[in-house]
Amino acid sequence: MLSIDLSGKKALVTGGSGGLGSVMSCVLAQAGAAVAVHYGKDAHAAARVVAQIRQAGGTAISVAANIADPEAVERLFQAVDQAFGGLDILINNAGADGPRASCADSDPAQWQATLAIDLTGPYLCARRALRAMLGQGRGVILNITSVHEFIPWAGFSAYTSAKAGLSMFTKTLAQEAVAKGVRVVALAPGAIKTPINEAVWRDPRGLADLDQKIAMGRPGDPQEVAQVAAFLVSDLASYVTGTTVAVDGGMLIYPDFRHGG
Ligand code: BGC
Repeated sequence: MLSIDLSGKKALVTGGSGGLGSVMSCVLAQAGAAVAVHYGKDAHAAARVVAQIRQAGGTAISVAANIADPEAVERLFQAVDQAFGGLDILINNAGADGPRASCADSDPAQWQATLAIDLTGPYLCARRALRAMLGQGRGVILNITSVHEFIPWAGFSAYTSAKAGLSMFTKTLAQEAVAKGVRVVALAPGAIKTPINEAVWRDPRGLADLDQKIAMGRPGDPQEVAQVAAFLVSDLASYVTGTTVAVDGGMLIYPDFRHGG
């Protein structure tokens, strides 16, 4: 039987306490990886993820860091190295979409804050991970982008710009790292039921509007993203690098075009 086997692999998931990251952490652990669950602020949520993994017989630690701070990122990677003795998988998952504001009305400090989490953080973590991975001649970096690396989204120009930037960052790193046995891939989730968009999917009118934007007619479940993430960081995806895999129930096939046009 074909199965995703990450046994012996050491993984770091940024934002591992959050809506997608917590499920990704658990699924990687289920596949056999030792998982470092990074968190920014919510120590309790990270501890819950670690406890869940350990109860199921897996290996996990939690580590706090401000991923936009190079020194904090260095300490994060040292902590992971001390606990696991290396790193094979980095999932740059931590992200935030920020408050909705048109560009004209937006606050430059908010632009900086969104780019710090969504682009500088992945850059600093990838930079540090590559130093370990290029030396050992193997490793995978998975950058969690969004369908909004492709689809414009009024009111979220910092978020869309950061995600489009993260996509190009993925391709460029993939080019740099390919000869050294390191893969760099992006995964673009669509509308997945997590706290980030809870106000939309909990509201019946919001949900109806969202469903219309998705060819499958429903938001995704975090597990449906985590399974693809686990596959992409596994050796089953050994020939995949420098590209984005969308997990969006068909949001990117513009379902409105089933009619008219
Ligand atoms: C956002 C969600 C949104 C989804 C689809 C994601 O990047 O974080 O809030 O539902 O894109 O628009």
